[in-house]
Amino acid sequence: MRKPVIGANWKMNRGTPKEALEMIQDFKSNIKKTTSVDIIIFPPYTVLNTIFNTVKKTQIKVGAQNMYFEEKGAFTGEISPIFLKNIGCEYVILGHSERRDIFQETDEIINKKLKKALFISLNPIVCIGEHLEKREAGKTKEIILNQFMNTFKDLTKEEIRKTIIAYEPIWAIGTGKTATPEQAEEIHHYIRELLENNYDRDTAQSVRIQYGGSIKPNNAEDLFRKENIDGGLVGGASLQAESLFEIVKAAQATLK
Ligand code: 13P
Repeated sequence: MRKPVIGANWKMNRGTPKEALEMIQDFKSNIKKTTSVDIIIFPPYTVLNTIFNTVKKTQIKVGAQNMYFEEKGAFTGEISPIFLKNIGCEYVILGHSERRDIFQETDEIINKKLKKALFISLNPIVCIGEHLEKREAGKTKEIILNQFMNTFKDLTKEEIRKTIIAYEPIWAIGTGKTATPEQAEEIHHYIRELLENNYDRDTAQSVRIQYGGSIKPNNAEDLFRKENIDGGLVGGASLQAESLFEIVKAAQATLK
């Protein structure tokens, strides 16, 4: 049984302590009793500390949206994974499509970051997903296979087991155009097959695969009910306490 995981990717939003607190205090009061869902907030770096201090004694965890693959040195503007760990981050998102498309991050760079995160015990969520043209050309699985082989290159069984994979079809991100539960499940199932072929059945069954792309309170549960979908990585709908809480509840409902 895999525990569902809900990630709130705030992207470049709610970056001042006031805006961040407004949301997190509301959200925290909604999550009164412990749920059996893992909840991770990924705020901008500027409020990581604020969020961490606010959720410290709760089940809510904190993560960063990115990191560099070196620990320290002359890398102006980059953020060290060690600094992140030191302020309470337990997770990090790697290879988000916005990093790949806007900031030219390659599978090779993401692979280096992934190995570093694992090395220092920062739990990675690694994103993969196709553009609309590729889907329309019937090349989705080819893209996923390539990203899988290159991004997870040389990862041991122990390492891949500590990794969460997020399938985020790029055409569904921020567009309001969610993948149908069937479309998402087809690719999640395929990713699990790749895990089985490259590692083993037990490993494939233990890795959590989240869906991301226009998840909203009204479509979350149908997605999370699919066999191979283990929760979601939420952008827009994670900025409001109430909608994020509804999405957590949807994940919780699939457990019953
Ligand atoms: P939206 O939920 O806004 O589509 O964003 C998804 C995403 O990119 C999560 O990482």
